Amino acid sequence: MAEALRVGIAGLGTVGASVARVLSDKAAELTRQCGREIVVTAVSARDPKRDRGVDLGSAEWFDDAVKMAEKADIDVFVELIGGDEGPALASVKAALGAGRHVVTANKALLAKHGVQLAEIAEKKGVLLNYEAAVAGGIPVIKTMREAMAGNSVTRVFGILNGTCNYILTRMEAEGISFDACLKDAQRLGYAEADPTFDIEGHDTAHKLSILTSLAFGTKIAANDIYMEGISNISQADIRAAGDLGYRIKLLGVAQRTDSGIEQRVHPTMVPTASVIAQVHGVTNAVAIETDILGELLLSGPGAGGNATASAVIGDIADIAKSRPGFQHGPVFGRPAKELKPYKKAQMRSHAGGYFIRLTVYDRIGVFAAIAKRMADNDISLESIVQHASGPETDAQKTVILVTHETTEAAVRKAVDGITKDGHLTDKPQVIRIERAG
Ligand SMILES: NC(=O)c1ccc[n+]([C@@H]2O[C@H](COP(=O)([O-])OP(=O)(O)OC[C@H]3O[C@@H](n4cnc5c(N)ncnc54)[C@H](OP(=O)(O)O)[C@@H]3O)[C@@H](O)[C@H]2O)c1
Repeated sequence: MAEALRVGIAGLGTVGASVARVLSDKAAELTRQCGREIVVTAVSARDPKRDRGVDLGSAEWFDDAVKMAEKADIDVFVELIGGDEGPALASVKAALGAGRHVVTANKALLAKHGVQLAEIAEKKGVLLNYEAAVAGGIPVIKTMREAMAGNSVTRVFGILNGTCNYILTRMEAEGISFDACLKDAQRLGYAEADPTFDIEGHDTAHKLSILTSLAFGTKIAANDIYMEGISNISQADIRAAGDLGYRIKLLGVAQRTDSGIEQRVHPTMVPTASVIAQVHGVTNAVAIETDILGELLLSGPGAGGNATASAVIGDIADIAKSRPGFQHGPVFGRPAKELKPYKKAQMRSHAGGYFIRLTVYDRIGVFAAIAKRMADNDISLESIVQHASGPETDAQKTVILVTHETTEAAVRKAVDGITKDGHLTDKPQVIRIERAG
């Protein structure tokens, strides 16, 4: 049998401790599958005394993850510290520089430094595997990098943040407010004490930036993502969406258009009958649309110790199975040096259907004025109805418009015009509609 693969784990928190536990519990099975043993020979975390709930055996302890990356007796460095700078970046760079394979679950790190790290890995002839960084346990990276050769991706979109999907699912099922749902999610451990990163879309954006690079062969451009979170989604939106045959999801969408690539994260209306609309609670899903395959949807657990460990261990097993001298495939599907610059499509040119909810003064001429603003901007309406979803009183009513395909620029101009006309009692709500199978 080949020599054991020696693994060093940096970070023994939720994911790191699960990885160590599963590697130990499933050692015999993994040896059978990989044709060699996988042994944890080094570990690093901040607190050497903390009980990790796992027997780390004779693994050597390192206070300093960078030192472990450089000096430990390991073939693979597994980074599970987190953060886009500091010890995570320094240790991954050190490990790649020392010619060691790296496995990481760190989307923030890859969103910021992925291309640079891929260049180092490819120069050194080692693997940089990151299945767990996007959609946790769902094998989407492997699917896009390996199983879809020859396909040209036209669009990739998904539910990439379990916290947001949990909140939206409960708001719809129980009719409770965003704030009440968020508090409950925090109490149950589905949302952080500071939830901004999740609910405002940053976490989804990090993951989307990685998928975009894989889908279109472009450099990662996380700063070029249009982003809106879910904190202004109300019960009025959810009720109106349901009545119109839609469900609201926070989607990350990357799409090739004539003017470049769109990368956007925002609350989105998807048809209630579509497959992605059936993805509830903390579950994640990624849809990949290609010229050959059509639309593929993968769904499953997007976070949590065991689910994430499953992806990390899959990456380690791939390294265990690779043979010395074997030329490894490029990190982002194409050699890092050949990734094209990202050409951003302006959000104003986004084309699609729109849901517009207006709270208006109940007076004669309002409907006509709204319809005129739409017509002036060449927006064709699928429907315009007075709807009992909003805060109805004798003095104010809710008007819901659904447009046929139009542009973001036209919708913004029309809504600005309606606002200036002075008919609105409250801020207008605009939610994009996404085509989904
Ligand atoms: N949790 C999930 O469900 C999930 C899902 C997908 C991806 N991820 C990604 O996985 C990574 C780890 O997440 P997590 O939830 O496991 O985080 P976590 O529970 O906060 O664990 C972080 C670990 O890093 C250790 N650490 C901190 N600074 C260190 C340093 N300077 N040197 C060595 N170790 C250090 C901590 O040590 P102490 O324990 O001693 O404090 C802790 O063990 C992140 O990149 C995250 O984005 C997580």
